[in-house]
Amino acid sequence: MNAIATASSLTLPIFCSRASKFEAKRGLKGRFGVFAVFGEVEKKSAWGPLFNVEEPRSKVSEYKGKVSDIYQAIEVARYDIQYLDWRARQDVLSIVLLHEKVVEVLNPLAREYKSIGTMKKELAELHEELADAHRQVHISEARVGTALDKLAYMEELVNDKLLQERSTAEIAPTSSPPSTSAKFVDTEKRRKTRRSLNVSGPVQSYHPNLKNFWYPVAFSADLKADTMVPIECFEEPWVIFRGKNGEPGCVQNTCAHRACPLHLGSVNEGRIQCPYHGWEYNTDGKCEKMPSTRQQNVKIKSIPCYEKEGMIWIWPGNDAPTATLPSLLPPSGFVIHAELVMELPVEHGLLLDNLLDLAHAPFTHTSTFAKGWVVPSLVKFLTPSSGLQGYWDPYPIDMEFRPPCMVLSTIGISKPGKLEGQNTSQCATHLHQLHVCLPSSKHKTRLLYRMSLDFAPLLKHIPFMQYLWRHFAEQVLNEDLRLVLGQQERMNNGANIWNFPVSYDKLGVRYRLWRDALEQGDKQLPFSKKNENE
Ligand code: FES
Ligand SMILES: [Fe+2]
Repeated sequence: MNAIATASSLTLPIFCSRASKFEAKRGLKGRFGVFAVFGEVEKKSAWGPLFNVEEPRSKVSEYKGKVSDIYQAIEVARYDIQYLDWRARQDVLSIVLLHEKVVEVLNPLAREYKSIGTMKKELAELHEELADAHRQVHISEARVGTALDKLAYMEELVNDKLLQERSTAEIAPTSSPPSTSAKFVDTEKRRKTRRSLNVSGPVQSYHPNLKNFWYPVAFSADLKADTMVPIECFEEPWVIFRGKNGEPGCVQNTCAHRACPLHLGSVNEGRIQCPYHGWEYNTDGKCEKMPSTRQQNVKIKSIPCYEKEGMIWIWPGNDAPTATLPSLLPPSGFVIHAELVMELPVEHGLLLDNLLDLAHAPFTHTSTFAKGWVVPSLVKFLTPSSGLQGYWDPYPIDMEFRPPCMVLSTIGISKPGKLEGQNTSQCATHLHQLHVCLPSSKHKTRLLYRMSLDFAPLLKHIPFMQYLWRHFAEQVLNEDLRLVLGQQERMNNGANIWNFPVSYDKLGVRYRLWRDALEQGDKQLPFSKKNENE
């Protein structure tokens, strides 16, 4: 019911106001008689079919500014668009007629019996009317854009309503046992409604299908020739280091001898040395040195590990790795300013849910980037039905979920820290963000964050800037973390963290649907590029 009320109230401003604007315009332009000369234009040129469109206003009068259900609201929106189309045609007709008048005034035959003064006056008047007509065309364009947005939104509401009706149909009383009590129906209803999106109970072990992807695990800049990067990925400890040729390798972070963590040792000549008894392993995991004892054939586990575009990637799955590593570079024109890594005490899916949601910003980030933001009357994420990327309305932010665990976003800004404009393309400067949420363990995520700007390239060279960026990123994350930790605790105790999704939760819901399908072993994953034409 609320949805219907919202839909109708969204449409009404255009619907109610158009008669008065229409009349005012007709009065103003009565002088050159757009409507009176319509037949004339139709007769004398090929323009006729373009302008011979019936005014749709009379068709919608039956609603008298009120709509009682969402279908009527959509009808009204359709009429709005028809009206705007008709209005735009009239605007173009005005311009055509004005141009004809200009030609007439400048016609050499007409000039013969008109004084220069009269001609100047006529031309000035026509010029003014032309400017008016052009202005009107721009207004019409803007109106059409708004009306199309509203129509798309209403169609979304209808889809939601159909989904709701389908869920209700599923729980028809005939499917209940004879001893149905109200409580049973209620429980059953909730169970069935949530079937498609139920994220509750203790965090389960990671599904093996989730491992068959390339995962970025570190930034190249953090892996020097003699350093080690220990990571936890899918509940297994790994250590990354560079081999003799400088190429990175990833081996299990547990010594074959007596299970000492290898990252507590050191890297010498491309081999990682255990700090306990000095055994040394190459990037394939082969033990090449066993001091003080006879050398034997010993090997620890290693997984595919490559470097691309400033990041180290691993393939933790059992399937053969795909041939191409993905690209996560920012768009051209952006310069990378910060690369940060953080270990966070939450399951990676919960963190992704949080990053894919922008509606929380004015409530959660009141001390950082969303300080002073007003709460919009409506927040939407607009995306094609088959996509995992789109843009936020009313925020100038584009966002994408990139499987298996990445979020890319571009934020339009005019000054650092300030959001402005209707969409990212209308903003002069931008901030690009990459968040990689690496699944470490059931309650741990390794977050890789990369921030790029398409302005102020010199900022990069200011000393200590990295520390400032880290400080800011941590502040923002801390605002989220206390909430996500609370969700995690409740989820572990049985709460469904996707209990009641609403329209602005679209991207997060799609991530969950994608992950569900992957874990169920679906051959065709939803929202993947292959499905774009569906
Ligand atoms: S535990 Fe590593 S060498 Fe002994
Ligand atoms: Fe947040």
